[in-house]
Amino acid sequence: MRTDTGHVFKLEDYRPSDYLIPRTSLGFRLSPDATHVTALLTIERREGVAAAAPLVLDGDGLTLLGVAVDGHTLPASDYEATPDRLTILKPPAGQRFELRLETEVAPARNEALMGLYRSNNVYCTQCEAEGFRRITYFLDRPDILSVYTVRIEAPHNEAPLLLSNGNPVESGTLADGWHYAVWHDPFPKPCYLFALVAGALGKLADSFTTMSGRHVELGIYVEPGKKRLAGYAMDALKRSMKWDEEAFGREYDLDVFNIVAVSDFNMGAMENKGLNVFNDKYVLADEETATDADFANIEAIIAHEYFHNWTGNRITCRDWFQLCLKEGLTVYRDHEFSADQRSRAVKRIAEVRTLRAHQFPEDQGPLAHPVRPRRYREINNFYTATVYEKGSEVVRMIRTMLGPETFRAGMDLYFERHDGEAATIEDFLKVFEDVSGRDLAQFALWYHQAGTPNLTVRSTHNAAAKEFSLEIEQSVPPTPSESRKRLMHIPLAFGLVGADGSPVAWTAVEGAAVDDGLIHIRKRRHTVRFSGVSERPSVSLNRGFSAPITISVQQKADDQFFLAAHDSDAFSRWQAFNTLLTDALIAAFRQILGGKQPVFAARLAELAGSIAGDEALEPAYRALALALPGEADIARDIGKGIDPDAIFAAREALARAIAEANREAFLALYDGLADKGPFSPDAASAGRRALRNILLDYLSLLPGGAALAARHFTCATNMTDRAAALAVLAHRHSGTAEADDALTAFEARYRGDALVLDKWFQIQAGVPGAKTVEKVRELTRHPAFSIANPNRVRSLIGTFSSANQTGFHRADGEGYRFFVETVLEVEKRNPQVAARLATALRSWRSLEPGRQAKARQALLDMAKVENLSADLRDIVERTLA
Ligand code: PHE
Ligand code: ZN
Repeated sequence: MRTDTGHVFKLEDYRPSDYLIPRTSLGFRLSPDATHVTALLTIERREGVAAAAPLVLDGDGLTLLGVAVDGHTLPASDYEATPDRLTILKPPAGQRFELRLETEVAPARNEALMGLYRSNNVYCTQCEAEGFRRITYFLDRPDILSVYTVRIEAPHNEAPLLLSNGNPVESGTLADGWHYAVWHDPFPKPCYLFALVAGALGKLADSFTTMSGRHVELGIYVEPGKKRLAGYAMDALKRSMKWDEEAFGREYDLDVFNIVAVSDFNMGAMENKGLNVFNDKYVLADEETATDADFANIEAIIAHEYFHNWTGNRITCRDWFQLCLKEGLTVYRDHEFSADQRSRAVKRIAEVRTLRAHQFPEDQGPLAHPVRPRRYREINNFYTATVYEKGSEVVRMIRTMLGPETFRAGMDLYFERHDGEAATIEDFLKVFEDVSGRDLAQFALWYHQAGTPNLTVRSTHNAAAKEFSLEIEQSVPPTPSESRKRLMHIPLAFGLVGADGSPVAWTAVEGAAVDDGLIHIRKRRHTVRFSGVSERPSVSLNRGFSAPITISVQQKADDQFFLAAHDSDAFSRWQAFNTLLTDALIAAFRQILGGKQPVFAARLAELAGSIAGDEALEPAYRALALALPGEADIARDIGKGIDPDAIFAAREALARAIAEANREAFLALYDGLADKGPFSPDAASAGRRALRNILLDYLSLLPGGAALAARHFTCATNMTDRAAALAVLAHRHSGTAEADDALTAFEARYRGDALVLDKWFQIQAGVPGAKTVEKVRELTRHPAFSIANPNRVRSLIGTFSSANQTGFHRADGEGYRFFVETVLEVEKRNPQVAARLATALRSWRSLEPGRQAKARQALLDMAKVENLSADLRDIVERTLA
């Protein structure tokens, strides 16, 4: 485990390395406890670098067995080797030399799941960000691009399958039942994209012909017997390949494309060149074991990793500060793909909900950082919602401002200009400046400045002058180490909506640049005056969520109700209703804190009823509209003094009010939506299930609700319905015979299926209330639970700490105590997963004083542990700062 060195990496310290590694030949002799690695590196001194410059290679916990230069063993006086560094003190005087390194690693004992490790007896690797240095000494930085040849040797019976990046070159048998395979990747790549997989796996094979007629062999490798669960992933892969050709003109470039699913993985998946490695949760699916959300995630992540082949691999990052160059852009691309495959409006709403749930709290708390950070202590902690999701929003804003054609021209130029390079955000912005002739200097602050900008908007209408005006003021709240903020360029999409729902025309506008439905906010204050507007319109702002900001509009509830029913922009219509719900919930929260019974406007329940039954709207859209803002969403909007129990009570009361007011209609709708034909994971069928399941959620609050949910559970013919019913029973009817029976039946039915049992752990970890911490503690002793497996840990501990407000934030602090104990236990094996879990405490300052003190103590308890990993110490200290 790497403990904290206290070293801070800074963007401004970047400089090119003295040496390059144009060629890398790796040899692996695989064995669980002692894998022998031979690295033959062609080292080249960079032009202008003094011949005497020592060569310093990165390592992490390595044991060096041998080192030779140009075929001669190097005398010990000519190098210095520690587990973390190899220094060749006097490299040869010539421009180029061959360095041969031998190291030994123990994959079976690698529980951090970085470098070469074993997952269910399969050898696999994870090198991003800095895992390659756990395999051999190297210049482990993304701007060192090398052409790799890899030879793998293993016993045939243990590892019949031997895979690496690129194209297969050669394979054959060796003595003693061993065999070998050689792979060559012609595309120079950074070492974080290196991958090796070896083991006994089943293969789902298919092929794809690219737009220029090249034949590509596709393979998805899964545990033996699970091949039929890879069909949906394969379909998604082929659709992704086609889409990237059509939407971005990007063609695949190797003869083979392989995906391997493993059960122990720190993240979602990894885009290694030609050999993607996936968390099996994002590959395996059928209707019996996967929910519609799982299907959608698989489609998105398969696409995401595939799209990295151009945005990440062919064009990579100069350094890790530029992570958003590949991640933000690739998330943008996978969002567009899913929008095209499914419903654009529904997808957009779901994206914004995710952004608000994950990125906003990050941006508004102690872990806030710019999309392109300037400093880090541990890069693993920067695979964040800000880099990924906000990074995607920034790309989206560029497209919104430039329009689709100019945006595409910019992307074409980016691929043409930087193919084969390690690029920066400046390079990326420059192509759009070049194709559009616009100055993006102020816009670039979206990459450089942390924090969620806020706009306050006031509208006035002067009927006599026929003038409608918007007074808009921007502010960016301070974030850690950035107390003074510069003014941003915010592209604000808007519409003026007339009394009949149609757009209101104006004759002239002044006060800001306004084009194509966008107001360009660039100053602190704008008064935007529209002339020729005789009737007062309702104003629809940030349509389609054109900018990732918060807005406070001084707009009457009447206007909000009107927009919720009539806005022509589907996103804004959803937003208007969601704002009404949030406002009602915040008011109810205050009533409860004041010792009163919450009261809700009957109009709200009525509007919910009319949205639910509006056949003109897609079922998936209706389902999203009916989903009340989550407890954490409400907490975020309240901002401080959070008492999760009061928020929970407010939310329950509103759900009940909506259910009671719409009982008959909801029941009829619920019955009408029952699945008829055979199962299909397509978006329309999933939407109907989503609507039916949210109706069940409401109906379960009424008398007879537990019985209804129990029936839903028993009659379910797919995992979406079964899991939804189980959640309703466990969360709303905890402790009843119906809930207990369903939990028992579910466990019995899926006893051998770890991924499905994760749902069972997850649902129980999410049961609201004070008793859950004891239950979760008990579940850590369940035979199917394993502290070493990231998926298990995330389902149980991750859900409890980040998705169970009343359970985790139990007033007596027991949730935090259990959490600290468990995080420290996870950390002994896997610091990365532990550090990510620990971010659950990031909003501790917004809690009411009692809980706040207990949460702070929990953080202090972690901070005082000696030899904390660099990963966890970084999170804990920044959270406390
Ligand atoms: N680069 C991966 C992705 O976003 C994520 C990842 C990061 C995976 C670090 C493993 C380790 O597609
Ligand atoms: Zn990615």
